[in-house]
Amino acid sequence: MSKRLPECFIEKIKKIEMILKSVVDLGGVPYLVGGSVRDLVLGREAKDIDIEVHNISLDDFELCLRKFGDVSLIGRQFGVLRLHGYNVDWSLPRKDSIGRRPTVEVDSTLTIEQACLRRDLTMNAMAIDLSNGAGSDFDVIDPYGGLESLKCKTLCMVDKEKFVQDPLRFYRVMQFVGRFEMKPDDALQTVCKNMDLYDVATGGALARERICEEMRKLLLKSRRPSLGFRWLYELGRLEELFPELGALVGVAQRSDYHPEGDVFEHTMQSVDAAAKLSLDDISLDEKFVIILGVLCHDFGKVKKTPGHDVEGVPLAKSFLHRFTRHTMLVRSICKLVRYHRMPITLVEQKSGLKAYKRLAVKLAPEVTAKHLYFVSWADIRGRNKDGHEPLDKAFVLGDDEIAVFLERIREAQVERGPEPPILLGRDLIDTVKPGSKMGELLKKAYKIQIDEGITDREALKKRVIS
Ligand code: CTP
Repeated sequence: MSKRLPECFIEKIKKIEMILKSVVDLGGVPYLVGGSVRDLVLGREAKDIDIEVHNISLDDFELCLRKFGDVSLIGRQFGVLRLHGYNVDWSLPRKDSIGRRPTVEVDSTLTIEQACLRRDLTMNAMAIDLSNGAGSDFDVIDPYGGLESLKCKTLCMVDKEKFVQDPLRFYRVMQFVGRFEMKPDDALQTVCKNMDLYDVATGGALARERICEEMRKLLLKSRRPSLGFRWLYELGRLEELFPELGALVGVAQRSDYHPEGDVFEHTMQSVDAAAKLSLDDISLDEKFVIILGVLCHDFGKVKKTPGHDVEGVPLAKSFLHRFTRHTMLVRSICKLVRYHRMPITLVEQKSGLKAYKRLAVKLAPEVTAKHLYFVSWADIRGRNKDGHEPLDKAFVLGDDEIAVFLERIREAQVERGPEPPILLGRDLIDTVKPGSKMGELLKKAYKIQIDEGITDREALKKRVIS
């Protein structure tokens, strides 16, 4: 059945219409392929555009693209090209050799059905012929039943042999389970249960960054990221792949505070609550840090309950190192784990503004009191005893406390970072040479400023150099 492309997508295609025409004039056939076809069918915005050009050699296609600007070849053997200034990946059809370590080869003569065979899931193995540009209606070329799989919310492999050759596909399934709220069919479930997850090309572990990319999509693009982790658990691979998370299953909690059940259940619900945070308040990168902070916040409960904030830090680190070496990211999340109990504690203890200012100093430079507030916000919502979705009612136990926390960090003006130091190096330069001594004095002055609320520069100077 023909459909019309959505207007926003037509606009994108119009920008490359001249290029498409030029390809067609050379006898080529441009197909829209991959996730963008899936997203169009689902009525979701297709962010990336992948176009696979058939029936044209790599050299001719490169020459054709060069008429429109600078071209870079992303690995000649993969036949993927980028034309600068356009957000489109252009590729030529590829086929895999068979064997333990398959190689990829461009083959322009493949039919679209043959080319789609090397894709991971049937929903990602559909295509739209763009030979007639954007204005016309389109038919989805669906050789492997992708439309049906989307309709039944079932993830299906295109080809089992090819699927298992790329271990990243396992993590893609985890991500799609969360993001599209779909379930693998029996065949895919069995394959995922037993699949080797080392990199076939290198024989070693899969690159962390590639797993991280899938983790990021799971956490940022899903309404309920927990579905991906719950799937890993049901599959029996959570303990093996993310043992720090797997260890939370069955860890009991005080039922008056946590009617929802064990620490794993609490963590899953809290993560889903964090996924609801609006991007009007935080950037995408901040949201990634916050959701990961929530995911790790109770790891320490495996060891002990009071003190789990401290115990959780090394566990969070080892969890994160399974998919990232990004120092700032890891440090940020560890700070959130270490201090996640502070919002409730400070409010319960009726602490003065100084305590909030000190907290902001401890959190800096990686995170802010506002980030910590969001972690608490999600934490208290992960307590639904009647289902798996987080609580979203206005009244949640702890809601009043964290509302006070927000008020107090605003009052103390440390919502987005600690109070700036009043005494600076230039104020001491007449008495002390720059170096470690000066560093020490400035640190001391800042401590006095925060602890005693002294904001007069001369007074601070006197205190440290007396
Ligand atoms: N693909 C694959 N196996 C992989 C990665 C990608 O078969 N390990 C194929 C799929 O057909 C996929 C397409 O390449 O649809 C593009 O991949 P990518 O852009 O990474 O993901 P998308 O499926 O487009 O999804 P997203 O919206 O997350 O970008």
